[in-house]
Amino acid sequence: MDLSLAEQERLKKCETMPKKNIIILGPPGSGKGTQSGRIVNDFCYCQLSTGDLLRDNVARQTPEGIKAKEAMSKGQLVSDEIVNSILLNAIRSPQCARGVIFDGYPRNEEQAVNLEKLLENEGRNLDKVVELKIDEEALYDRIEGRRVHLSSGRTYHVKFNPPRVEGIDDVTGEPLIHRNDDKREVMQSRIQVYNDKTKPLVSFFSKQGKLTTLDAMLPIDTVYSNIKNVLI
Ligand code: AP5
Repeated sequence: MDLSLAEQERLKKCETMPKKNIIILGPPGSGKGTQSGRIVNDFCYCQLSTGDLLRDNVARQTPEGIKAKEAMSKGQLVSDEIVNSILLNAIRSPQCARGVIFDGYPRNEEQAVNLEKLLENEGRNLDKVVELKIDEEALYDRIEGRRVHLSSGRTYHVKFNPPRVEGIDDVTGEPLIHRNDDKREVMQSRIQVYNDKTKPLVSFFSKQGKLTTLDAMLPIDTVYSNIKNVLI
């Protein structure tokens, strides 16, 4: 397939960027998916969102998806066994050759230890962990206004990052959805799970000297430019 000139230039620019495996850590709605999409574009890393991978398995009703569905609808974590098996296949794909962004993984200390082992077995290292820090009240606004293109994971916001045409994905022209777990009640449980299980990873990775904390209350472009400074 012939690539457009713009696409050829993008790929050429990616080759000047460092190869890295990174984690984007932050509560639901902090902007992990939004920022990962931009990193994918500029650095040609693959984005492994365990949330997107799980939603895809739920939609296709795979055995893993059927088991994951109930936990997800309550805002609880899916079992490590299911998440790990989904992740391993994804890491080996050719799109991940220049680097991986782990978006929404790991979510507890067991997953963090497992990720380190998994990367080691694949001959890779974990280079950086970027924490997106945000006030809890801001999360509800972000989540309630979020609209998602399910098959690509592309994310918009009715106010902060609207699509060109309301309710429609800019790239494919397909409809956007409001995620089932983006309701206020489920959100409360997701935030609590983050605070109880995932937030301790901040000190886990800080002890390893890999953590950088960024202010995720800033506008999307400013947050991204700060992430780029960390990666280059
Ligand atoms: P998942 O899909 O990973 O959800 P999450 O971690 O809760 O994160 P979100 O996707 O809600 O938020 P985000 O940080 O990506 O924010 P976004 O960029 O969209 O997980 C869902 C479920 O799957 C879990 O609850 C669990 O059940 C299960 N699961 C997933 N991984 C698992 C694992 N490893 N183990 C076990 N279970 C797992 O931004 C939000 C909105 O804000 C958007 O509309 C965006 O446009 C807007 N926005 C972003 N940045 C800004 C900004 N700077 N200013 C203004 N608006 C902004």
